Amino acid sequence: MQVVSCNSFGPVSNLVVEERPSVPVTAGQVRIAVAAAGVNFVDGLIVQGLYQMKPQLPFVPGGEVAGTVTEVGDGVTTHSLGDRVFVSMGWGGFASEVVVAARSALHTPAALTDGQAATFVQSYGTSWFALRLRIRAQAGQWLLVLGAGGGVGLAAVDVGRALGMRVIAAASSAEKRALALQYGAEAVIDTTTEDVKARAREISGGGVHVVYDPVGGALTEAGLRALAEDGQLLIVGFAAGQIPKLPANLVLLGNRRVVGVNWGGWFAGHVEENERMLAELLAAIERGELHPVEPMQYPLADAARALQDQVERRVAGKSVLVP
Ligand SMILES: NC(=O)c1ccc[n+]([C@@H]2O[C@H](COP(=O)([O-])OP(=O)(O)OC[C@H]3O[C@@H](n4cnc5c(N)ncnc54)[C@H](OP(=O)(O)O)[C@@H]3O)[C@@H](O)[C@H]2O)c1
Repeated sequence: MQVVSCNSFGPVSNLVVEERPSVPVTAGQVRIAVAAAGVNFVDGLIVQGLYQMKPQLPFVPGGEVAGTVTEVGDGVTTHSLGDRVFVSMGWGGFASEVVVAARSALHTPAALTDGQAATFVQSYGTSWFALRLRIRAQAGQWLLVLGAGGGVGLAAVDVGRALGMRVIAAASSAEKRALALQYGAEAVIDTTTEDVKARAREISGGGVHVVYDPVGGALTEAGLRALAEDGQLLIVGFAAGQIPKLPANLVLLGNRRVVGVNWGGWFAGHVEENERMLAELLAAIERGELHPVEPMQYPLADAARALQDQVERRVAGKSVLVP
């Protein structure tokens, strides 16, 4: 099997492609021929040693894959050879095949391509958790999404629209803004030339109800200032690299709320609730209410280039590695 290996923490350009013997399948497991491995911002952080979890070296990065079952271990009754499945896995996914517990390999809905199945769990899981579970977002509310052309941001645009929210998408490039409009944003803000706070307040007629922030840095305070009274700021991530410090008077004066969103941290302790949430998400996809983006493709051997493009903001939507 072919894998992408991280042999030391550091720049993503240090990743190497290696041939390794296949891992045997034991009871309760399945082998999956990987058709697509989703690339996430978090994979780049893990490879650089900048994430809260550090795998033991050497390791294979890659947190989600989709493909076809090619071997079934003893005792597995839920899967058969040829089944299309997708898996969320922390790391290990940048490979031509993976061996995982059958329970973690969910059947791919017919509506999804392998590329979509390999990229929707982290982005939609985060955005669904944020908008449905952390706050009970309501139809008709104004939602400002920062980083709206990125993975979790575009998913937030789609989830917000599906919930009946009125979405304003903020992004740095014309390509990302066009994608957000295609996914249901009704207005866009160019973060490179426009005043995000002023434009969001103007578009929404006085202030937005919810800000979804996976970017951090200076944009977070602009988002907080864009909120109407009793508005909620969802803290999702810090893709810009700086963890912002916020003036607490802005929270007090506007009777606003700042809400943490740590889906990754939550689901480990809420396995059944998370399974219910994912089932709800899958049902919404199958009903055609959500539309995970078709990712751009890179060959598996170009993993370093794919991650470099991700961390340097060149990916609009999602990307996958194809073995
Ligand atoms: N809380 C959770 O449970 C959870 C779950 C998944 C991910 N996350 C976090 O959410 C963040 C976004 O993840 P993602 O998968 O959506 O990433 P992504 O696809 O790379 O999108 C991130 C967006 O952030 C913006 N950005 C601004 N400054 C940036 C910089 N210096 N470097 C990179 N991006 C920058 C970019 O938009 P513009 O070009 O438009 O500025 C980019 O499109 C990450 O910090 C990730 O760790 C959190």
